Amino acid sequence: MQRVEQEIARLIKEIDYDEVTRLFNTLSGGKRLRAKLILKIAPFHEKAPLLAAIVELIHGASLLHDDVIDEASLRRGVASVNATDGSKTAVMLGDVLYSKAFTELLEFDKEIAKIVASSVTALSKGEMLDVKMAATFNTDEKKYLDMLYLKTATLIEAAAISAALLVGKNAHKYGIYGRNLGLSFQIIDDILDITADEKTLGKPSMNDFTEGKCTLAYIYLYHVLDAADKERLRNAHAKTLSQSEALWIKQKMDTYKSIEKSFELAQKLSKEAMKAVEEDKELVLILETMIQRSY
Ligand code: IPE
Ligand code: IPE
Ligand code: MG
Ligand code: MG
Ligand code: MG
Repeated sequence: MQRVEQEIARLIKEIDYDEVTRLFNTLSGGKRLRAKLILKIAPFHEKAPLLAAIVELIHGASLLHDDVIDEASLRRGVASVNATDGSKTAVMLGDVLYSKAFTELLEFDKEIAKIVASSVTALSKGEMLDVKMAATFNTDEKKYLDMLYLKTATLIEAAAISAALLVGKNAHKYGIYGRNLGLSFQIIDDILDITADEKTLGKPSMNDFTEGKCTLAYIYLYHVLDAADKERLRNAHAKTLSQSEALWIKQKMDTYKSIEKSFELAQKLSKEAMKAVEEDKELVLILETMIQRSY
């Protein structure tokens, strides 16, 4: 991981703009899940740290844009770039990181470059869909999971496939692993938005529903509520939640085990991921840490 950090620092330095370096430094402190995944799949390959650095730049760019989209003022425990320097700067910094990452992909075989670059198209489509779906009260689980695949799982899947390609491992198997890990990862992220506090998360909590996002727990809850409560939940959608409404939602989720149901799906997907790479103990460990995480 030290080599990955060195590569990230080198790429940022190459951009040769102090303002970029300064702003990028405020973004330190991510979990580096995608980088760790690449190193575990291609541990001895000389170019693995560069591939991991590229994927982390892409991920960082997506977060910069995501915080503008979600109007989030906290990221990785500190004020987000859109909060400190404005949305224009956050968007432009995201563009700088994306384009630098694409340039660096030229160091790899076409197949690897293509899988990583095209995952950014998918991720961006996913973010568009997420926003579009948030304009109305979505209660369709399948639609929600299809969006999650695009928004979050494709980059993780691409990280796994590209690392496998780098060392000649079975790309299909690692793809299944990455896809299911990615889906499970976002489901946990959505759960934590409801159950964890801002300080632990390092980003705003209970923000999804306010932003109009009906994540799985809300979808599951909606379907079991009676007509009056369905109406009450609909009314709370896409608004700043009062403390009493937030509490009411959490109590109903408690009663109907909506969080547990979401967690069960995350576990099921995790098991699917595990099945694909059973012999690789390190990858199984990543899954276990991911599912038990608190931030
Ligand atoms: C946040 O990703 C965005 C999602 C896909 C849920 P991470 O939770 O991996 O963010 P960092 O990199 O650790 O900050
Ligand atoms: C994931 O969605 C964002 C990306 C894939 C870029 P979220 O909007 O849930 O991510 P957080 O919770 O802000 O990290
Ligand atoms: Mg967000
Ligand atoms: Mg978002
Ligand atoms: Mg989230």
